[in-house]
Amino acid sequence: MSSQFSRTEYQQLKQQLNEHAYHYYVLDEPQIADAQYDQLYQQLLRIEQQHPDWVTQDSPTQRVADQPLAKFTQIKHAQPMLSLGNVFSAEELTDFVQRISKLLEQAGESSNSLSFSAEPKLDGLAVSIRYEHGHLIQAATRGDGSTGEDITANIKTIQSIPLVLRGDTYPDVLEVRGEVVMPRDGFARYNQWALSHDEKVFANPRNAAAGSLRQLDPKKTAQRPLAFYAYSVGVIEPRHEFELHSEVLAWIKSLGLPVNHLNQVVQGEQGCAKFYQSIGDQRATLNFDIDGVVYKVDKLQYQDILGFVTKAPRWATAHKFPAEEATTVVENIDVQVGRTGSITPVARLQAVNVGGVNVTNATLHNEDEIRRKDVRVGDTVFVRRAGDVIPEVVKVVLAKRPADTQPFMMPDHCPVCDSVLLKLEGEAVLRCPAGLSCDAQLKESIKHFASRKGMDIEGLGDKLVEQLVDSGLVNSPADLYHLSEVKVAGLARMAQKSAQNLLFGIEQSKTTTLARFIYSLGIREVGEATALTLANHLKNLTDIMASDQESLQQLPDIGAVVAARITQYFAVPENQQVIAELLAAGINWPAVTEPSAGALLLVDKVVVLTGKLSVFTRADAKKHLQQLGAKVTSSVSAKTDYVLAGENAGSKLTKAQELNIPVVDEAWLQAMLN
Ligand code: IVH
Repeated sequence: MSSQFSRTEYQQLKQQLNEHAYHYYVLDEPQIADAQYDQLYQQLLRIEQQHPDWVTQDSPTQRVADQPLAKFTQIKHAQPMLSLGNVFSAEELTDFVQRISKLLEQAGESSNSLSFSAEPKLDGLAVSIRYEHGHLIQAATRGDGSTGEDITANIKTIQSIPLVLRGDTYPDVLEVRGEVVMPRDGFARYNQWALSHDEKVFANPRNAAAGSLRQLDPKKTAQRPLAFYAYSVGVIEPRHEFELHSEVLAWIKSLGLPVNHLNQVVQGEQGCAKFYQSIGDQRATLNFDIDGVVYKVDKLQYQDILGFVTKAPRWATAHKFPAEEATTVVENIDVQVGRTGSITPVARLQAVNVGGVNVTNATLHNEDEIRRKDVRVGDTVFVRRAGDVIPEVVKVVLAKRPADTQPFMMPDHCPVCDSVLLKLEGEAVLRCPAGLSCDAQLKESIKHFASRKGMDIEGLGDKLVEQLVDSGLVNSPADLYHLSEVKVAGLARMAQKSAQNLLFGIEQSKTTTLARFIYSLGIREVGEATALTLANHLKNLTDIMASDQESLQQLPDIGAVVAARITQYFAVPENQQVIAELLAAGINWPAVTEPSAGALLLVDKVVVLTGKLSVFTRADAKKHLQQLGAKVTSSVSAKTDYVLAGENAGSKLTKAQELNIPVVDEAWLQAMLN
């Protein structure tokens, strides 16, 4: 079959995809929904299948090389990759700024208002990426600063790194330096996956990023959720004249490379100190690990004057955060039962402050990990807050082990329901097989069911779920829909008003979407994306429940393991029963229509309706928004993405304006629907 596409159209499609990737990764302003991007990508693949001779290395389909490497080759950096000096306190920061000011004054420059490029210090792996005539041709690790390893094939698998630079103003040669990191959400997801597939679990996102880049098989690297932020340049040929480092960053961003959005130009020591404080405050909420901030004299002429000491520049320094590791004593070791029955050993610790947070529990991951580290009750251990929320035990201080300790033995019965624990083939974790009849799994399942991405039941927090289960009021997710105000109000510490709010939240949750409903069931391996795929492709619950493994595997991104989990879940009579009860309780969703081009334009966006609408009724506007993937809520907060305002909108509109939330009108919704 000959394609109806010309070569020019193929080139345009390729460029279009690259442009969308730029808007997504670099500007953080996607122009199209992921599903639409996927459609275009599939179209590109089809054309390439018909015209293999058209395919060039810069096609987004060429990111993952077929063949694994035998070993990494060494690459000498054209310009050495430097490290940074450190400061650890306000006093040391003062010294740093004074030293620079003095040196500049000695050179006859005024150092009155010294500007710095202040940047988060990303905790990943430094790499150098070389572009020639706009094409990515080589990438290397930092190594010892002068020689690194050739990781080109792995770097190319990172979606946010352009294979071709944007525009046509790029130099003949450009070396971009930056940090490869594994975002925290991706790290958590990856480790969870690794745990259930008997793959290596990483101790922290930094190790995960390093391990992923050191894979000889790029196919494996491609499966790791890596990100990249550029923070400087190496060789540029021909030379480009810039005045400021911040201009260099803006320029490389315009060429299509991701630059961290937290970077800021600040004035003097005070500006640096304020930045340090502000980034420190945001640290816990960021999606990547940082271990401090970096200050770089912004004016390049000053950088030249200041020069280097051995391997680090005098014009820059890292201001490190206090260490996030501490030692403490293990008072006890418990095991926790997760939503899917996984048994996780947890160390109960003598309270210790780790990086500003009081830590009393730390995960020991699984049986293999606890045995490998040989953590015992009574041991003194290093505890680390590895960026994400759950602290972990890093290692035992053997020298401090008391004489009478015993190795920890995993239980053979579930600590909550007493079922015999099983280790399934191919898994590292022990599991309790009791499902919803185990209270621990019931509680976790209901928390998941009610969560924001699931049925989104407002007013149903974790504590309340535990109370509802413990009191016997709730034995399955469906029981939530049969609660009465009297019963809820009878729970300890439950006021009438909160009981009413909860029942209102439960009632509201009945109208949902098929995808949310599927997600809320908590099927193993079925997250938001898979739930959406199932809903969009199979369109109704009956077909989803009836699909066999083979047909599920035909769907995008559903492999054998996920397909098996889905069919296994629906084959269990108890699960069928819960679903039937939920539907009988009145849970409903609008029919899934053909995904038109714009079908998912508002995926996960939170929209608030206010004022009097004239084109749509409120109910219709809500339904349309939900069909576009949005979540419609009633109050404006920082989490709101859009406020759709009709006539005479009042306080919600004012609040949106205060919070700088985009205010849109009915015409906007019509445009979205078209
Ligand atoms: S600049 C000449 N900027 O910190 C300056 N480095 O100890 C070279 N790092 O190996 C580095 N975030 O991997 C710079 N915004 C940032 C950084 C950063 C993280 C790492 C980098 C380097 C180490 C320096």
